[in-house]
Amino acid sequence: MLSRLHLALLPLSFPTVLSPFQFSSTVRHFDWGSILKIVYAFVAMRREQKGCYLALIKCLLDWLIPWYRKHDGADAEAWEMVKRKGNQFMVNGRPFYVNGFNTYWLMILAVDSSTRQKVSDVFQQAASVGLTVCRTWAFNDGGWRALQKSPSIYDEDVFKALDFVVNEARKFKIRLLLSLTNNWESYGGKKQYIKWAQNAGLNVTSDDDFFTDETIKSYFKNHIKTILTRVNTFNNIAYKDDPTIFGWELMNEPRCESDPTGSKLQGWIQEMAVHVKSIDPLHLVEIGAEGFYGPSTADRLQVNPNSYAGQVGTDFIRNHQVLGIDFASVHIYPDSWLSDPSPQTHIQFVKQWMEAHIDDAENTLGMPIVFSEFGVSTKNGKFNQTFRDTFIGTVYQTVLNSTRRGGSASGCLFWQLFPDGTDYMDDGYAVVLNKSPNTASIMSVQSRRMQSFNSRCNWNCRWSCRKMSEVDETLHHDEL
Ligand SMILES: *[C@@H]1O[C@H](CO)[C@@H](O)[C@H](O)[C@H]1NC(C)=O
Ligand SMILES: *[C@@H]1O[C@H](CO)[C@@H](O)[C@H](O)[C@H]1NC(C)=O
Ligand SMILES: *[C@@H]1O[C@H](CO)[C@@H](O)[C@H](O)[C@H]1NC(C)=O
Repeated sequence: MLSRLHLALLPLSFPTVLSPFQFSSTVRHFDWGSILKIVYAFVAMRREQKGCYLALIKCLLDWLIPWYRKHDGADAEAWEMVKRKGNQFMVNGRPFYVNGFNTYWLMILAVDSSTRQKVSDVFQQAASVGLTVCRTWAFNDGGWRALQKSPSIYDEDVFKALDFVVNEARKFKIRLLLSLTNNWESYGGKKQYIKWAQNAGLNVTSDDDFFTDETIKSYFKNHIKTILTRVNTFNNIAYKDDPTIFGWELMNEPRCESDPTGSKLQGWIQEMAVHVKSIDPLHLVEIGAEGFYGPSTADRLQVNPNSYAGQVGTDFIRNHQVLGIDFASVHIYPDSWLSDPSPQTHIQFVKQWMEAHIDDAENTLGMPIVFSEFGVSTKNGKFNQTFRDTFIGTVYQTVLNSTRRGGSASGCLFWQLFPDGTDYMDDGYAVVLNKSPNTASIMSVQSRRMQSFNSRCNWNCRWSCRKMSEVDETLHHDEL
């Protein structure tokens, strides 16, 4: 039987026929065999000066670089938590810019084994065009296939389906932005919490009591705690420790119309952001806001799509100055916000809306900003796919313009991506990549651009810049 020593010495029998590359590829680990090879290389240097000298340098580097990366937090392959540094996201010691998507129903389709495959399909198709973050619902309050059947009572089968979604996302290197409840009635939301309180005998009438009633706030806080401390039944990782989760969203599109001053919602955001951080200090937190300017910035009100938007109890700047909120979220829906049907007006609005928010995130808030929903419905005949592609291109270009100069725009999440065979659920906004090759190629180009910023050198990744220059070269002359 060959001992380890013999195995190690085997390639040394023919040192002169091994190129430096072949030689060093046999020397990868700190074991006795490798050390012997190094010693041998020193001895052989006298005979084969040049080749062995190169081989020696190369194998020393092969050890040093992974060691350096590991101790420097810059191992590009490690699956680490996304962090924030100033107005950028960071992962593995490098910038993390995002091209992503929304698919809200993943948990529900994962419950049933006959539809579970759709979850894997959408991740697979998203990954094929380079999308890296998916925003989805981590709630279904009451009703059909409820996750939370009633306050603090959970359906374990549905929870396992959410476990599946989280575990599956990681396989495709996709991170999840998980939203914790809804302002709207779909999937329960604040209205369902009001019903639960009424059933418990509380005197609550308005949906906006969700933001102020102590009992209802405690229901929601319990939900937050249950989700964050959940231990995934597929991989045994607690959600609060799982780097697959990009961050937490307090609520989808919170509005509190009963208080146009914005103070009710402001108080709720403060209380919930601190609550999330007290359980999970590691993950990023955002509000889920649509981005309407409010009373604290009267000069910005004219940027809103209409005057009503300034009176729904939200206040972009003030809301995002809350302790514990890590990045800004903004939605972009000119097709439902603007009464003017002209495509030019819509495109013009998109640019102004985005640039104002990017400017504020950069200069006033000092945080990254993600356009976490943007889309166009082609259902009612007002807009077609060609316009949708122009719209997506405008959003991408505006993000890119900021990203290029190191600005706050850190990414955008398209609403919404569907896999093949789910058209029956289309609300007019769905894009099936196989059926929209032009849209797919626009997405793919943007993903590659964002990727080129992610592999860009910074002070602590001097050793790992090879990839960056490759990507940069392919994108050098590429403009939308
Ligand atoms: C319920 O609250 C409303 C307003 O807060 C109040 O006017 C009403 O009297 C209350 N009803 C009961 C039964 O306490
Ligand atoms: C799509 O809509 C645009 C205006 O938004 C129009 O100029 C164009 O002709 C339309 N294309 C098709 C194929 O209908
Ligand atoms: C890019 O950003 C700069 C600075 O904000 C602005 O002046 C310029 O018009 C933008 N370009 C495009 C194509 O949006």
